[in-house]
Amino acid sequence: MANTTTNGAFVEFERVQKSYDGENLVVKDLNLSMPKGEFLTMLGPSGSGKTTCLMMLAGFETATHGDIRLDGKSINNIPPHKRGIGMVFQNYALFPHMTVAENLSFPLEVRRIGKSEREEKVKRALGMVQMNDFAGRRPTQLSGGQQQRIALARALVFEPELVLMDEPLGALDKQLRETLQFEITNLAHELGITVVYVTHDQTEALTMSDRVAVFDDGRIQQLAPPDELYEAPQNSFVAQFIGENNTLEGTVKEIKNGVALVQLDGGGLIDAMPVNVSEAGERTRVSIRPERVEFNKSRLHADAHTLQAEVLEFIYMGDIFRTRLRVAGTDDFIIKTRNAPDQKRLVPGEQIEIGWLPEDCRALDA
Ligand SMILES: Nc1ncnc2c1ncn2[C@@H]1O[C@H](COP(=O)(O)OP(=O)(O)O)[C@@H](O)[C@H]1O
Ligand SMILES: [Mg+2]
Repeated sequence: MANTTTNGAFVEFERVQKSYDGENLVVKDLNLSMPKGEFLTMLGPSGSGKTTCLMMLAGFETATHGDIRLDGKSINNIPPHKRGIGMVFQNYALFPHMTVAENLSFPLEVRRIGKSEREEKVKRALGMVQMNDFAGRRPTQLSGGQQQRIALARALVFEPELVLMDEPLGALDKQLRETLQFEITNLAHELGITVVYVTHDQTEALTMSDRVAVFDDGRIQQLAPPDELYEAPQNSFVAQFIGENNTLEGTVKEIKNGVALVQLDGGGLIDAMPVNVSEAGERTRVSIRPERVEFNKSRLHADAHTLQAEVLEFIYMGDIFRTRLRVAGTDDFIIKTRNAPDQKRLVPGEQIEIGWLPEDCRALDA
């Protein structure tokens, strides 16, 4: 393994494991290296170990094995309040008996910053989240979205280099969540801070992050920029978890010229890119995105393998058409087409032929 302490990484997890009960590992061999200024999201189902990783980084939990480093230094030797880490949680955690200004001033007092400098920093932090008019209010006099803005301002007020956020928008409604997603990413980039953000919401992860670490079962399943995660999932879990996806099971018949020919269990032969398969006879799940399925034969290669499909449902969604098909033994194969003037609207009961470019269909682990 490369010497990770000298590569300029700002946050590093090296072979980190965590067990709460001395028996079961909830984090298994975690390796992660983040440069300064990166916005990285840990995305995964509930119980996959995201919060545990954040707590270890913050210093509220210790790793059972491995090393966590901040700016090249092992954090085991730095007490939590000296790590210069700002934190934002889902449940705001503002002090209810203090005003907004007092809540923001508190982390500065702890750091023994003088009164006039405190006032200046509080004002600036409130400005960042557009809450200057609310300095005198108490948390109970604020809406959920406003409280979360204040929690964000409080995490930023002492100008930390690293900010950790654990599902900070989870309790908010959709519209407010989207507004704040945008504000948080802008603010993070403007201030040049490094962010580790935790969510189970894949849209949030894709839209906000420089890179996303997809967690499952205490492991990072894939760590990549959003477009790479969506377009080149490395395994079936990631393909299913990120975005909408069609899955068909089958057996590899042959691999030739970089294309796998797959015999589907439900009948039919298709072309796929061999990602997690290497030889004939292997079981596989092939994964194809709904928007990459083609039913206009003139747009397919002349020798492309196609499948017979029956249209079960056509849903007009305004910008796109979403059509459900019966294909190779499954009733929930989805295709999405853009609502363009020349786009055909399929009709339930219609028989069609579908296909795709081999590179758009990935043969993954079974
Ligand atoms: N303080 C704790 N004591 C014992 N088990 C815990 C504790 N915190 C979390 N766990 C367990 O560790 C696993 C991972 O939890 P967590 O890191 O909170 O996952 P996530 O944030 O991805 O939902 C879960 O099985 C959870 O029940
Ligand atoms: Mg959690």
